[in-house]
Amino acid sequence: MQAKTASESFTIMNELVLPNDTNVFGNLMGGRLMYWMDIAAAIASGKHCNAPCMTASVDNLSFKTPIKLGNTVHIEAKVTRAFNTSMEIHLKVWGEDHLHQYSYESNEAYYTFVALDPNSNPRKVPGVIAETEEEKALYEGALRRRQLRLVLAGKMKPEDATELRAFFAIDSK
Ligand SMILES: CC(C)(COP(=O)(O)OP(=O)(O)OC[C@H]1O[C@@H](n2cnc3c(N)ncnc32)[C@H](O)[C@@H]1OP(=O)(O)O)[C@@H](O)C(=O)NCCC(=O)NCCS
Repeated sequence: MQAKTASESFTIMNELVLPNDTNVFGNLMGGRLMYWMDIAAAIASGKHCNAPCMTASVDNLSFKTPIKLGNTVHIEAKVTRAFNTSMEIHLKVWGEDHLHQYSYESNEAYYTFVALDPNSNPRKVPGVIAETEEEKALYEGALRRRQLRLVLAGKMKPEDATELRAFFAIDSK
């Protein structure tokens, strides 16, 4: 299976915040944003592995700046690293005010998607070739983030999380 560059999965998605997307403060609802981010991540992972993909997990998501009614939501998604059957997708989100011509960072997050075969079993995915400095840094950090999310999900024993132990300089004794 031939590895693909990270940039081949690059996805841009734009949505206009309409009244039905907002909370009582007139800002975009967090749940609606997570839904759009999920779709952007599904497109990016699908571009990478050319197979149907399923959301396995979403890492912690904090909303820095609310996106206002009438503004545009700009989402960028890219696969950072592929493992066996799973892929980590990095997403960045901006709000864009076209009337006053400025944009502002809203949030970023990591989603994990798993590729599925026709029987809905996890299937192997191609590796990722990181080319730019940013892609290389995201690729390097992906193993540590994977171990953290698998430990938190109860799918990996903390003592097996070698990257995390090295990061926090935990002695194995
Ligand atoms: C995601 C899912 C397909 C994984 O299936 P599974 O039977 O747990 O399969 P495995 O244990 O073999 O794991 C398959 C891959 O998923 C990854 N994975 C499983 N749970 C994970 C989690 N909570 N976070 C991140 N990755 C996870 C594993 O690390 C593995 O990756 P790898 O092959 O690259 O090493 C399965 O849990 C599922 O279908 N979940 C429901 C997903 C869903 O309904 N999503 C829509 C949102 S509601």
